[in-house]
Amino acid sequence: MLSPCVPVLEDPYGVLVRPRTDRDLDACVRVLAEVHGRDGYPVDWPDDPAAWLAPPSDLATWVAETDGRLAGHVRLSRGGPGDAAPGVWSALSGTDAAAAAVISRLFVAPSARGQGIGALLVQRAVAAARERGLWPVLDVVASDTAAAALYERLGWRLLATVDQEWGPGRTVAVRCYAAGA
Ligand SMILES: CC(C)(COP(=O)(O)OP(=O)(O)OC[C@H]1O[C@@H](n2cnc3c(N)ncnc32)[C@H](O)[C@@H]1OP(=O)(O)O)[C@@H](O)C(=O)NCCC(=O)NCCS
Repeated sequence: MLSPCVPVLEDPYGVLVRPRTDRDLDACVRVLAEVHGRDGYPVDWPDDPAAWLAPPSDLATWVAETDGRLAGHVRLSRGGPGDAAPGVWSALSGTDAAAAAVISRLFVAPSARGQGIGALLVQRAVAAARERGLWPVLDVVASDTAAAALYERLGWRLLATVDQEWGPGRTVAVRCYAAGA
């Protein structure tokens, strides 16, 4: 089991997962732009991508590195107004939504995919949520099929699919997941 004072995870293939620093942000934005161009994540390119990656509500954020190059990113935060999963999880479990922690901003550089980096990042965020006594939940846009496949492969439970209003006349289907026990 991970100890809260051990912030770094390394797998046998040399993937390093470590807390993100401000100096990582430029590289994170570059990789995010690549992911957006290829996968349409995020659906809408943010006006200020660095601020989108580093909002003030973060509990913690990690990056993955391979050969010293930024390969992936994940964030853990308290639920906010745009998050559907904490409310759905709360209604189904009878637990206060404040006991949930939201995993988001997960992406892996296209050139680094299929090596378990996404799984490693999710597992790091799940461990950190549990260390805080919080239950990991997340939203994923229904069209992000690779991400949904990853969560289900890791034992996450699909709670519901909800329609979110993303603007006038614009409805987006979002799948809400909770980590397995
Ligand atoms: C989702 C994403 C992070 C996966 O990263 P990754 O490093 O390639 O994932 P992993 O190598 O850890 O894959 C772990 C498991 O997820 C599943 N998986 C990952 N990508 C998949 C894909 N394209 N199709 C089907 N299953 C996939 C597989 O079951 C895999 O298990 P396996 O190793 O037994 O084959 C990556 O595809 C990505 O960045 N997508 C765009 C961003 C995005 O949609 N983010 C979601 C925000 S909620």
